[in-house]
Amino acid sequence: MAVAAIALSTWLEAELRSDQAGETGAVWIYRGVLATRPDPALRQFCLQHLATEQQHLAEMNALLPKQARSVLLPIWRLAGFLTGFLPACFGERSVYLTVAAVETFVQAHYQQQIVHAELNQYPDIKKKLVAFMQDEIEHKDEATNLAGEPAGSVAARWCELVGAGSEIAVKLARRV
Ligand SMILES: [Fe+2]
Ligand SMILES: [Fe+2]
Repeated sequence: MAVAAIALSTWLEAELRSDQAGETGAVWIYRGVLATRPDPALRQFCLQHLATEQQHLAEMNALLPKQARSVLLPIWRLAGFLTGFLPACFGERSVYLTVAAVETFVQAHYQQQIVHAELNQYPDIKKKLVAFMQDEIEHKDEATNLAGEPAGSVAARWCELVGAGSEIAVKLARRV
C-alpha cells in the first residue's frame, strides 16, 4: 500500500520541489559524465554516486506528489547532464572539482532547510534531510580529496558558474 501523503505547508512544498529538482539534476550529472565513457576509476566513482542520488530522488519522489513537482524538470535534467558532461570532456580532475562545487552548494541548501523552525513540525522529513546532507558532505569530501590541488583559474570560474547556476535553479524550482 502506498504511504499516505503528508499535508505539506506551502514553505515545505516549495523547498521539497527544489530538493526533488536538485536530486534529479544530481542523477543527470553522473549520467552526463558516464556518457563520455570515462576511465574505470572515474566510472566507478560515478556509478557509486549515481546510486546514492537515485536513492535520494526516489525518497523525494515519495514525499512530493507528482503535481507538486517542478514543471521545469526537463531543463533540470539537461542542466545536470551538461554539468557532468562538459567537465568530463576536460578530464577527471574537472569532474571532481565540479562535484565538490555542486555538493558545497547542496550542503548549504539542505542546511538552511534543516535549521528552519517550520521543519520541526515534520520530524520524519527532517531526519531524511539530515541524512541526505550527510551523504552530500561525504560526496563533497571524497571529490575534494580526489581533485587534489585546488582549482586553477579556469576551473575556479567554472565552479563559480556552477554555484551561481544552482542558486538560480533553486530559486526557480521553489516557484515552478
Ligand atoms: Fe543527493
Ligand atoms: Fe550528492
